[in-house]
Amino acid sequence: MSAPIVAATGSPFAKLMSVSSFVPSRVVDNAEMCTWIDSSDEWIQQRTGIVERRWVGEGEDVESMALEAGRTAVERAGIEPSELGAVILSTVTYYHQTPSLAAKLAHRLGTNGAAFDISAACAGFCYGLAQAESLVRSGSATYVLVIGVEELSRFTDKHDRSTAFLFSDGAGAAVVGPSEVNGIGPVVWGSDGGQADAISQTVEWSHAIPSGDTPYIAMDGRTVFKWASGFISEATQQVLDAAGISAQQLDVFIPHQANNRITDAMLRALKLPEHVVVARTIKQYGNNSAASVPMAMDALLASGEAKPGQTALLIGFGAGLVYAGQVVTLP
Ligand code: ACO
Repeated sequence: MSAPIVAATGSPFAKLMSVSSFVPSRVVDNAEMCTWIDSSDEWIQQRTGIVERRWVGEGEDVESMALEAGRTAVERAGIEPSELGAVILSTVTYYHQTPSLAAKLAHRLGTNGAAFDISAACAGFCYGLAQAESLVRSGSATYVLVIGVEELSRFTDKHDRSTAFLFSDGAGAAVVGPSEVNGIGPVVWGSDGGQADAISQTVEWSHAIPSGDTPYIAMDGRTVFKWASGFISEATQQVLDAAGISAQQLDVFIPHQANNRITDAMLRALKLPEHVVVARTIKQYGNNSAASVPMAMDALLASGEAKPGQTALLIGFGAGLVYAGQVVTLP
């Protein structure tokens, strides 16, 4: 008989202890955007809800944004950085393939905990949150920092009228820790690699480097729109069902800020009651992929539209195609 192996034991439940964001300094409004693409403020607002977006300014990049958001999340959680058992970072816009940005940040924050990057595009924060919740409950880590950060302004062709107006920069972060009552519901997640071409990189690095071509993000907008407003609406309902929460019991809805019309389509499908506060930060921030859910959560809490202790539904979806969502208690 094999020798018994000790199993890790963690907290019965996990919760969000804090959330934070870093909003980059450069404001790019639709008028400036229309100096690069043949479009109009009216068209962009009507088709997406975006009035202006944030891009990195002087001295800001993926690393600095992630560091600021991560540091604030740790401070707000009231823990020491050295207590972080893991740092999980989601991005598709860190240009160093190895080592991970998470390991570098863990060191800069002041922890030797486990650290790794994940690639799950606009679902990245919710993917990271699912892993953090499991690590805390399994006992593999007591506190986990989850960061979503993107510098999509660097990865977007500003002359491409099918993508330029949508994408933006920013960072959001949260600390997950132990709890006596459950603060993070079961994740509902999945992928459809059969639609990998719907959002992808124009040129592989192996080709880009010798040829000098710059890789950008490319998107089949209609395919993404159809998938997000149909399939993802159904998946979002499954997130609520998995948590045992009715639409009436919900206080806040924080979908990935992809496009206001996708959010509208989801609201029609989910039939959420009037009292539910809906995140619409795309108006000022644009679509910043992995950063969008925590940035929206932080903005709603900062403005007082959402309150600590309320029940919120999160859903992220994007390139892969991939998606993930969970119901949480707001920190
Ligand atoms: N400005 C002005 N007109 C434009 C622009 C533009 N930037 N782009 C297209 N048009 C015109 C087209 O020429 C066309 O004109 P026509 O009717 O005279 O031929 C018309 O607008 C419709 O073109 P479509 O490509 O069908 O535009 P659509 O209505 O689908 O809107 C959009 C485009 C906004 C990208 C939409 O498809 C969309 O929102 N898709 C979802 C994409 C999304 O949200 N992605 C993010 C999620 S994934 C992630 O976050 C990584």
